Amino acid sequence: MNTRVLTGITTTGTPHLGNYVGAIRPAVEASRRDDVDAFYFMADYHALIKSDDAARIERSRLEIAATWLATGLDPQRVTFYRQSDIPEIPELTWFLTCIASKGMLNRAHAYKAAVDRNTEAGEDVDAGITAGLYMYPVLMAADILAFDASQVPVGRDQIQHIEMARDLGQRFNHLHGHEFFVLPEALIEEQVATLPGLDGRKMSKSYDNTIPLFAGGKKQLRETIMRIVTDSRLPGEPKDPDNCALFTIFRAFASDAETAAFRQALLDGIGWGEAKQVLYERVEADVAPMRERYEALMADPAAIETILLEGARKARAIATPKLAALREVLGLRMMTTAPTSVARPTVSPKQGKMPRFASFRDADGNFRFRLFSAEGEELLLSKSFADPKEAGALQKQIKSLGAGAAVLQIRPLGMSLDLEGEMVARTPDYRDEQARDDALAQLRDALDRLAAQE
Ligand code: TRP
Repeated sequence: MNTRVLTGITTTGTPHLGNYVGAIRPAVEASRRDDVDAFYFMADYHALIKSDDAARIERSRLEIAATWLATGLDPQRVTFYRQSDIPEIPELTWFLTCIASKGMLNRAHAYKAAVDRNTEAGEDVDAGITAGLYMYPVLMAADILAFDASQVPVGRDQIQHIEMARDLGQRFNHLHGHEFFVLPEALIEEQVATLPGLDGRKMSKSYDNTIPLFAGGKKQLRETIMRIVTDSRLPGEPKDPDNCALFTIFRAFASDAETAAFRQALLDGIGWGEAKQVLYERVEADVAPMRERYEALMADPAAIETILLEGARKARAIATPKLAALREVLGLRMMTTAPTSVARPTVSPKQGKMPRFASFRDADGNFRFRLFSAEGEELLLSKSFADPKEAGALQKQIKSLGAGAAVLQIRPLGMSLDLEGEMVARTPDYRDEQARDDALAQLRDALDRLAAQE
């Protein structure tokens, strides 16, 4: 199975060269790998925590979507969507909020930094701090856990958030006795360049030292590059490539041979003005074709909307059944499956936990259910039904069947359950035949226990 890689981009800003080299370009490259199932999304709910400027958020969403598509993200290959199109995310946020420890959230860096600033200024500790900022890590955990992502490429400043997502996932799994969530890991790209900005510090919107990627066209690109701060060495004087923002930016775009030639030119005393022109031309060579696509996309927002809605559909095909299963586990069951829940109180805790059914609705609106063992292992997944009553009827049949009467088709790595010659449910695929045989024993045991209870 491919590794599910998921990352979000907060939609408050306009992409700059530093975003491109540090995040967008590596993510687009990673999304092309055959062993990766990439989920990339615009974290516009997170943007609301940082900004209440609706126009800015609207513009940023469009610019960021157009940028990702223009730089080569293939929406056929990647699941590319907006956080705000996935109602399961805020829903899961609430479920996780109910198990998140307040103490953990007190320790989140962004919240702590805000508290420290207040303390320093002699203000009330929580002055001006919204509950949104406080809950930021929980929303981010929901982003990740809703899709069972195993790897999350982020900057170092986000590692703590990934750890909190793991913590919440683990806590839920533990409380409910089953591996409901994949526990994610942060993926930190060690060799990805951080670009210096105009003043030599890290290129960042908060330092106001950025070089725009597309905004303002090539004229703006050239003018901004010309403003990169250099030292006062005159043409003819050797320049130090290893201490110069120009060279670092050049290297992020150029081949090894081009980089070596530029290094030599600096050592040979090329003038700063001329060096900036060389840098501009090299960057522009990469950016120009992408800018052309970017401008075409920006001129056709409806086309972007279509792509994002399709992305949301693909994303929800995963999140909707996942959340439906979680609702079952939490006791928020559909009343169409009342027989299951009515039966529960009659089983005394002493008799041990019983196997149980969990019904859910597929993304396409159909009804299905899973059978879990008493230990919470998934045993069976039913076929889908347009009518929930039929799904309920099948549950009843399975309950009264007993292992002896069950017709199980055994495949190399899994099994299916047949009723009247028709396959009605199947097991997950198992690692190997041994695991399958263990599962077979569990399934038989569960069927017998259910039948005994009937
Ligand atoms: N908080 C991330 C950032 O500021 C953006 C983000 C939101 C994110 N949700 C996410 C990143 C989920 C990875 C996974 O960079």
